[in-house]
Amino acid sequence: MCGIVGAVAERNVVQILLEGLKRLEYRGYDSAGVALINNDALSVVRRIGKVQALADAIDDNNGKGTTGIAHTRWATHGGVTEANAHPHASEGRFAVVHNGIIENHKPLREMLKAKGYTFNSDTDTETIAHSIALIMQTTDDLLSAVQQAVKTFEGAYGTVVMDKTTPNKLVVARSGSPLVIGLGIGENFLASDQMALLPVTRRFIFLEEGDVAEITRTSVTIIDSTGEKVEREIVESNVEHDAGDKAGYRHYMLKEIYEQPHVLRNALKGRITADGLEDGIFGQSSNENADDIFAKTKYVKIIACGTSYHAGVTAKYWLEQYANVQCDVEIASEFRYRKSFVPANSLLVTISQSGETADTLAALKLAKESGYMSSLSICNVDGSSLVRESAISFLTRAGAEIGVASTKAFTTQLAALLMLTLAIGKHNNMSEETNLSICNALVTLPAKLEETLSLASEIEDLAEEFSDKHHSLFLGRGDQYPIAMEGALKLKEISYIHAEAYASGELKHGPLALIDADMPVIVVAPNNELLEKLKSNVEEVRARGGIMYVFADQEAEFESDETMRVVQVPHTYESVAPIVYTIPLQLLSYYVALIKGTDVDQPRNLAKSVTVE
Ligand code: AGP
Repeated sequence: MCGIVGAVAERNVVQILLEGLKRLEYRGYDSAGVALINNDALSVVRRIGKVQALADAIDDNNGKGTTGIAHTRWATHGGVTEANAHPHASEGRFAVVHNGIIENHKPLREMLKAKGYTFNSDTDTETIAHSIALIMQTTDDLLSAVQQAVKTFEGAYGTVVMDKTTPNKLVVARSGSPLVIGLGIGENFLASDQMALLPVTRRFIFLEEGDVAEITRTSVTIIDSTGEKVEREIVESNVEHDAGDKAGYRHYMLKEIYEQPHVLRNALKGRITADGLEDGIFGQSSNENADDIFAKTKYVKIIACGTSYHAGVTAKYWLEQYANVQCDVEIASEFRYRKSFVPANSLLVTISQSGETADTLAALKLAKESGYMSSLSICNVDGSSLVRESAISFLTRAGAEIGVASTKAFTTQLAALLMLTLAIGKHNNMSEETNLSICNALVTLPAKLEETLSLASEIEDLAEEFSDKHHSLFLGRGDQYPIAMEGALKLKEISYIHAEAYASGELKHGPLALIDADMPVIVVAPNNELLEKLKSNVEEVRARGGIMYVFADQEAEFESDETMRVVQVPHTYESVAPIVYTIPLQLLSYYVALIKGTDVDQPRNLAKSVTVE
């Protein structure tokens, strides 16, 4: 949720840290700070608001240092104040940045206060700084002090510590929050995401759970959770360096909406043709072929959060309709705290853009102990915790997604799930006709998305009618119900308009009471077997004075009138219609947010990667 950057070098690292923070700002953006060691002096600068406010506060006096750490915050413990912003210091000597939550911070705080430490913030993180200071009374080795300190912490942390008396050194620890070391020449770096460091290096070491590491200009020493010194693989990154640029678009979200045909082509490349799925496209499990696992699969459990959960709900319709396999979908934060039953031959599927969502990772961990036959992750980030901890992984290849509102990650997840449907369906009597129809649908999908994007100006015009509204209803049926859910999430997330989604057959069971001219009703209406049912639901709304915006198939015979505005969506294969209909809903929320003047890429109170519970 927050972002961490660190550097130890011979040159002044302040610009490296600020650039890194800017590249991570989408992860947390309520305050930011930097701590630098310059000639054995420690300086800390912190500001509320965006990284630019911090950059504006840096000058020649406070902006020099060859070793430094920096942080962009998404508040958990303690409000958005300068005092609560990281880095936190102790004794004017130690500085700490931290992602995650130290759950036992209250007893730690009491213990440290009793030892004479004064707290200057309401954060859990400050307990890390004082804990290190306390332990350093009995050792002069920062690495060993951090090893001892983390043994007293409960919860999740990715943390970096520096000590002005050993100025050419950073010590880092990872448990539940990712950290990556970037290797330079005569200088080394550290971040919570490789994206922050791409301007300075492409060589990375991904720390593993329980690792503690010491980083100097010329060395990296890693101690694993058992206390053993270990060597970790150096990975050459192929993430695009300019993925952090807007490429001329006004917002990352708009850029990412328009990238969808291109990233879908990437997601399908080498995996599927009009004749069928290629072999071996699902990453091999450590000891079993993925296809052998699919052949045995009798039940699929999908676990995810937010938009990724909506992809999972869509896949339930596909897996049961096309692949003849039972499927349930559950929100990770619910699954992890309840007892559930695991039928024989169950496959666990987790879905995540980031691969670092705390609830999804915890659910995966729990499920692995509960008798699932195997685990498959559908994820956008290679090397992420979810990918590393799943037996099989399938990368969505959406490229870096910066906008907090997930767009291209969602549509590539859907394409991946449709390929999974084919892979499982082939062992469950999926007809050749269905197989070929889905393959054709996927192969022609990128062009269909290009066609659908041409609706943008019509949707921009329609968005004008939303700017003064406070509530909205999204309706869909069948596999378009989760698309309505996703449309509602997008609208509320970036325009702050209250939006709810209903399976339209549910209207008469309560929500019809809400209908009036001030409650726009958005309907997704592809030309499928539920169309006539949906038309009846539309009439129910019309009869009660509702105003509707209908995204309808060209052949669905909806016509605009005084109560209904129809946007005609290109006719498409039924199987990929959920992906196609996602596009107009993304555009609608984007243009409504634009009119309302909200912060589209960094909406209030949210963060891109939810690495705390
Ligand atoms: C979607 O627009 C949101 N940003 C959010 O719901 C997101 O999908 C959710 O937090 C899950 O994230 P993940 O896919 O990285 O696990």
